[in-house]
Amino acid sequence: EQDPVKLMKQQVGKAAADRVKSGSIVGLGTGSTTAYTLQYLGERLQSGELKDIKGVPTSFQSSVLAKQYGIPLVTLDEIDHMDIAIDGADEVDPNKNLIKGGGAAHTREKIVDSLADQLIVVVDSSKLVDKLGSTFLLPVEVIPLAITPVMNKIEKLGGKPTLRMGVKKAGPVITDQGNMVIDVKFDSIDNPAELEKTLNNIPGVLENGLFVGVADVILVGEIKDGKPLIR
Ligand code: A5P
Repeated sequence: EQDPVKLMKQQVGKAAADRVKSGSIVGLGTGSTTAYTLQYLGERLQSGELKDIKGVPTSFQSSVLAKQYGIPLVTLDEIDHMDIAIDGADEVDPNKNLIKGGGAAHTREKIVDSLADQLIVVVDSSKLVDKLGSTFLLPVEVIPLAITPVMNKIEKLGGKPTLRMGVKKAGPVITDQGNMVIDVKFDSIDNPAELEKTLNNIPGVLENGLFVGVADVILVGEIKDGKPLIR
């Protein structure tokens, strides 16, 4: 008996991989949903149905998986365009705005995802919200020496910040860039575009997890009719 959320992730991850065309440069997202996308991209390459793609990883996790599945990688310095990026999200609102960073990868994800001609977001239906911030805390990557002043400033802005701690590690989570993450509870995120800029303007903040106007297509995994829903 398979877990329904896992099934949704698998189905939608695969559907996104099917949209990748031979010869394209592909941004490779982070998380448990895009892990299936990478797996299916590898299978399509292996079978010869898909040829000559190059992947741009959004994290250490996605570069490790890409190597495991035989997807050739390139860096941002080696490319002049990106055809498509496929990435997960923690929350998606009706305007296709996102909260990302549950895996602490949002900084690199934002760099890569925003360079792609098309960003496809893959989620299970539990990620859909009417308003961002209603179920998920907003991740903010912070340069370690600025943790205290940044947390104080965020409190003044009305947020409740917590330093993200490791699960199988003593002490704080360290990002792929060597920074820390604070997760912020806001009572209500009424203007995500403005909050994204306000937070990034605090000295010491590297990037926050609000993705406004970046996603083009939202693929939602659904088990009801066996086919992913497209928004
Ligand atoms: C990584 O920092 C995140 O932005 C992920 O893309 C997001 O957490 C989605 O992950 P899952 O697909 O595992 O839910």
